[in-house]
Amino acid sequence: MSIQFHEESNTFILDTRDTSYRMQISRYGNLLHLYYGRRIYDVSLDYLLRFQDRGFSPNPNEAGNDRTFSLDFLPQEFSTDGKGDYRSPSIEVENGDGSFIFSGKVTGHRIYRGKYRLEGMPSLRAAEGDTVDSLEIRLEDAESGAAVILCYSVFEEKNIIARTARFENAGSDTLKLRRLMSATVDYRTADYDFICFSGRHTMEREFCRMSAERGVHAVGSSRGASSHQFNPFGIVCEKRADEDCGECYGYSLIYSGNFLLETERDQFDQLRVNLGINPKNFTFVIEPGETFQAPEAVLAFSPDGFTGLSHLYHRIFRDNLIRSPYLHAPRPVLLNSWEAAYFDFDEERLLQIARASLDMGVELFVLDDGWFGRRDSDNCSLGDWEVNRRKLPDGLAGLSQKLHAMGLKFGLWIEPEMVSEDSDLYRRHPDWCLRAPGRPMTRGRNQLVLDLSRRDVCDYLIRVFNGILDGAQIEYVKWDMNRSISDVCSALLDRDRQGEAMHRYVLGLYRIMDEMILTHPEILFCGCSGGGGRYDPAMLYYQPQIWCSDNTDAISRLKIQYGTSFAYPVQTLESHVSVCPNHQTGRTVPLKTRGVVAMDGILGYELDSTKLSAEEKALCREQVKRYQEYYPLIAEGDYYRLTSPYESSVTAWEHVSADRSLALISLVLTDRESNGAQQYLKLKGLDRTAFYRVQDRDGAYSGALLMNAGIPLPAGLLEYEALQFTVRKVRDAE
Ligand code: DGJ
Repeated sequence: MSIQFHEESNTFILDTRDTSYRMQISRYGNLLHLYYGRRIYDVSLDYLLRFQDRGFSPNPNEAGNDRTFSLDFLPQEFSTDGKGDYRSPSIEVENGDGSFIFSGKVTGHRIYRGKYRLEGMPSLRAAEGDTVDSLEIRLEDAESGAAVILCYSVFEEKNIIARTARFENAGSDTLKLRRLMSATVDYRTADYDFICFSGRHTMEREFCRMSAERGVHAVGSSRGASSHQFNPFGIVCEKRADEDCGECYGYSLIYSGNFLLETERDQFDQLRVNLGINPKNFTFVIEPGETFQAPEAVLAFSPDGFTGLSHLYHRIFRDNLIRSPYLHAPRPVLLNSWEAAYFDFDEERLLQIARASLDMGVELFVLDDGWFGRRDSDNCSLGDWEVNRRKLPDGLAGLSQKLHAMGLKFGLWIEPEMVSEDSDLYRRHPDWCLRAPGRPMTRGRNQLVLDLSRRDVCDYLIRVFNGILDGAQIEYVKWDMNRSISDVCSALLDRDRQGEAMHRYVLGLYRIMDEMILTHPEILFCGCSGGGGRYDPAMLYYQPQIWCSDNTDAISRLKIQYGTSFAYPVQTLESHVSVCPNHQTGRTVPLKTRGVVAMDGILGYELDSTKLSAEEKALCREQVKRYQEYYPLIAEGDYYRLTSPYESSVTAWEHVSADRSLALISLVLTDRESNGAQQYLKLKGLDRTAFYRVQDRDGAYSGALLMNAGIPLPAGLLEYEALQFTVRKVRDAE
């Protein structure tokens, strides 16, 4: 078993193949955190706990006159509230008597084979061949009757620990939960850096590294979606950590709503990390006998830098999270109508674009926004999901048939969660959107947000969209969500339950996805929220690929895709070749470069194919062919970031096959200097002693040489020019 309880020392022992996690029940029943990191073989780690009489650090009643025991400095596994730990807590609950005290003492535990289950929320599952064991520890507050059940699942071979917490009201008072973290991890020291992935619309997931300083540093979202601004993924690492060395801890939350990821360096220079639902504007009324389930956090530890950590997350998300049958299947190369025509199209125009795309090797035509209601701009018609017969006289079914007759598959854009004020749906049901009575509503892209905390609204959406999916031959759906949520107030929730609305919204969204996506396994779903505003593991559970950003500029994409790659596998990232000058940045980049960058994901096109020259189409055809040839390597190989777009004038990355016999290397020169220094690109992930042939070069070189001395880059490379080449193993060591 990868989980054991050592009675003598009251220690919980969790071991993956290469990592260890230890907790101990203190002599007064509190659960203390002892260790998380590289694999160790010890059972009792008592000696790590240092007891001291510290000023202004209170002592629990049970400690009597012992002034050396205080929750104020001891490392907690689940930080209680109101009992002398003044750091950011794991829980805040309003008791029946109005107090906020929760004193969680361990009253029992259970160890079992297999993965714990979460109801109504996406989570990891055990895949074939995995050894997964689980542990549940019960912490109780004797006075209120409240309990928290901490759940852990250890994925032994995959070096992953999944965690969550469940709150239970076993007392007789109504309780109000104001905060429940999915994971708290206390480090005994604080000499770490914190890395988060932060950005904005059209510039998501930029790599941001900072030193963990005194006080609380919080990132997260209160926008109703995981957001463009911060991602529910972060890294705590040693100061020396880089791609290849240093200890790194990964924190990921499988949740699509408001989240919080905070670090706190305390008075004694210890570090706490909290990850969970954002407590801002969150409350949940828990009646006697009811429970509340926090989303799942996925923890990983790599002793060997960021690359090792990324590989752990890529693997677990690929094998144990994403449910789509398309996961390992080659994804069709698509052409999306958005940047090709925006709202300005009719069937004839779409068919022209589709026909021209055949020459490029495109396999799937995606009709984006503008096909329903009176949707000629983004100011109206969301909610009126009736096809616009002026644009599409034969409806979606007719368009789909014509595309299929050409040999193309058909994909469709939808935005189920939204409603326009100028729509029949809104006129019929003004109370179906989130709004506070008597207050003017805040608009975003001139649209309002449907109240998915309501069951009737969700039922309606399931019926309408299942009808659309069943009414035409549709092989792909792009699910969009185009504003940050505000005015959170639901017509159906009581006054003291409004703090539940945002979490209920997310649960409603999951239910719709359960009923639409999982019941249409034949359709390939792509997530989207104005690009990458909801690029999170919960969405990946349902939709195996996500439109990474509304920014299609290849040079901007280098940073966006670089940041995304830290947690998310390449085959979840949809990336398109668009026209130049680019619609977002005005930049002009060679078509070859746009193709190379888009191949660092799921390749697609988003341009008016009727305007491409024969030469350009031929180049696209070549790109598609090359992409299809290397798709298994790109999608299933190990991913290496060879350089950082923040530190180098060459951004380079590499896909390496599992047996290390083949690698595909891609690079883009982003800043050319006149008469500059010779640059060398050092490869990664090769077999050191084997010999490889580098495409278009004579001779064979050892993996060790290619990784240590590197490959000289051609001096004539122009700014924004890309190179892509393979390295193939020709023989083993002599
Ligand atoms: C935002 C998406 O990210 C775009 O790709 C496009 O689908 C528009 N919405 C359509 O409104």
